[in-house]
Amino acid sequence: MSDKVTLEFNGNKYDFPIVEGTEKEQAIDIKTLRSATGLTTIDPGYKNTGSCESAITFLDGEKGILRYRGYSIEELAEKADFLEVAYLLIFGELPNTDQLAKFHADIKKESHVDEEMKKILDGFPKSAHPMGVLSSLTSALIAFNPSSVNVTSENDMYHAIVRILAKFPVLVAWTLRKKKGLPLDYGDDSLGYVENIHKMMFKRPSEDYKSNKIVIDALDKLLILHADHEQNCSTSTVRIVGSSHAGLFASLSAGISALWGPLHGGANQAVLEMLEAIEADGGDTKKYMAKAKDKNDPFRLMGFGHRVYKNFDPRAKIIKVAADEVLNDLGIDDPILDIAKGLEKEALEDPYFVDRKLYPNVDFYSGIIYRALGIPTEMFTVMFALGRLPGWIAQWREMRLNNEPIGRPRQVYVGENHRSFVEVNKR
Ligand code: SDX
Repeated sequence: MSDKVTLEFNGNKYDFPIVEGTEKEQAIDIKTLRSATGLTTIDPGYKNTGSCESAITFLDGEKGILRYRGYSIEELAEKADFLEVAYLLIFGELPNTDQLAKFHADIKKESHVDEEMKKILDGFPKSAHPMGVLSSLTSALIAFNPSSVNVTSENDMYHAIVRILAKFPVLVAWTLRKKKGLPLDYGDDSLGYVENIHKMMFKRPSEDYKSNKIVIDALDKLLILHADHEQNCSTSTVRIVGSSHAGLFASLSAGISALWGPLHGGANQAVLEMLEAIEADGGDTKKYMAKAKDKNDPFRLMGFGHRVYKNFDPRAKIIKVAADEVLNDLGIDDPILDIAKGLEKEALEDPYFVDRKLYPNVDFYSGIIYRALGIPTEMFTVMFALGRLPGWIAQWREMRLNNEPIGRPRQVYVGENHRSFVEVNKR
């Protein structure tokens, strides 16, 4: 196997080393490209460009493989809980009983959010999209946790991490409760991490909270499935913001904004809106398939396609099975699920999708479960952010511990050549 590539340019030959990962992925190390050749590269959307070496998540888009720190997503979704997976992603190993108990205890200690933060939330109209509210509140947290900004030690980093893992779910719950006109509540330290999130989100003032194991298990599994996905758009955003040594909360706030986009995490909301439109159209999936294939129509089949997966997204497979189970266990007959399955079947048999290797991704079925759990459509992407939080944290921590340089891509300039200023009366 060759350990280098040779570039021939202007009659000269330049060797560049091949970097090989632990899963035999190979990349050309072009750290010296510009100094050696005067050349840079250009790769819109970074489709062929690696930004870092990472030990957190491995995915194989051709084979539909996804692993967190070497553990398969299938095993983790089946056997782990979300807080365990958060610990695994961030610190690299599955926690033992004492480590997990301490991690959860340290998070509980930080579960208070300054009451002043409610005044910031009050400033938003009820119509505000929850992702915009959450990005703002996450950034506002900085003002109330100044020691979480200058992360110069592992100790500082640990405290910033447990703080945001404790406070972000409170902000998520407050954002939902504000939209519903419910009082803003705090959690219950006697509950599990995910059960506490569900209680904060859904406890009604006049009733005792009743936990439903089916609901909590489904939510836990969904959060695990969203927990990390290597260098996706929002994670790359968190890394590049953090690379300027902006604090963790500021980097996460930027990541939330990136996730909001309908081509990324916002797709789960767009999928449900698409399925509801198809239902309103009498279930006419063929019309929407035609729109998705029409180059003159900006409409895309939301929840389909992926930058990396050119096979089934393993998360979509797990969520599709879970959707059937949850709706069945909760005794819900949701015609939207049948429409989704019909659309998937049609797309998987259609040459347009088959030729472009467009398969259902994580967002295609997740909204159906969120809906069954009583989560409003506008909150779907917030649930994605809640799941992705430990992945963002893990990637940010790795970037900082590896002392990655500040992210600053090059460009190819295609604007005007030099020209002299012209006085306004002569233009
Ligand atoms: C997530 O990166 C991650 O890991 C993200 C994520 C994570 O966990 O962080 O997995 C989460 O973001 C999942 C993706 C959610 N987005 C959607 O479901 C939106 C719909 N999908 C697409 O917009 C699209 O598939 C992307 C954005 C996901 C990927 O786009 P790419 O890789 O840039 O591919 P492309 O736009 O170049 O498309 C290639 C071809 C094009 O047609 P041609 O020009 O070759 O004729 O496929 C077509 C596209 O028009 N195409 C679609 C399509 N997706 C791609 N056509 C119709 N419907 C679609 N959904």
